[in-house]
Amino acid sequence: MSYQVGVFVGSLSKVSINRRLATALQRLSAGTNLHLQEIPIGNLPLYNHDYDADYPPQGLAFKEAIAGVDALMFVTPEYNRSIPGSLKNAIDWGSRPWGQNSFARKPSAVIGTSPGKIGTAVAQQHLRSILSFVNSPELAQPEAYIQYTEGLINEDGEITDQGTAAFVTDWLQKFEVFVGKVVS
Ligand code: FNR
Repeated sequence: MSYQVGVFVGSLSKVSINRRLATALQRLSAGTNLHLQEIPIGNLPLYNHDYDADYPPQGLAFKEAIAGVDALMFVTPEYNRSIPGSLKNAIDWGSRPWGQNSFARKPSAVIGTSPGKIGTAVAQQHLRSILSFVNSPELAQPEAYIQYTEGLINEDGEITDQGTAAFVTDWLQKFEVFVGKVVS
């Protein structure tokens, strides 16, 4: 059984280390039954509920992209001990209009990297709280807090540290098992 996984990259930066991590995940997923494809968040306007009466094409396309995958992966930086506003905005778009929450029963996993020692842990806790509310079953363990050091992931998305590569591979494999249990 193979699973389509929509990937949200929480950073819009061109030089994002989390985008590098997403590329690494893409590479390492080749050894699993997970097929990762990015769902872009950077083109979404700032959400407000006036849109609910008539969702704009970007909002509809975003919800259709979520509907088209079996599972979701969040690869996010930590901004001021939370998730970036761009990612929260995207989740708000996906959760509405009321009664049409795209995240309901869609399994998810959270991972992120930061130069800080706790490697996005606080942002991930905030994100888990949001995902609980939108009714997305989350991979609880292993948690994945990746401390970024210079050169840890090269421009091609190769993780240069063997231990980190092995950890991320194991994390992907456990997510695959989890997705299988949720969707079956
Ligand atoms: C940061 N950074 C950061 N790091 C961290 O570990 N905890 C934090 O709360 C914050 N807060 C924060 C706020 C803002 C506005 C910025 C721009 C940065 C540093 C952050 O981890 C670093 O810039 C990463 O490179 C961001 O990830 P991307 O965008 O490169 O993927």
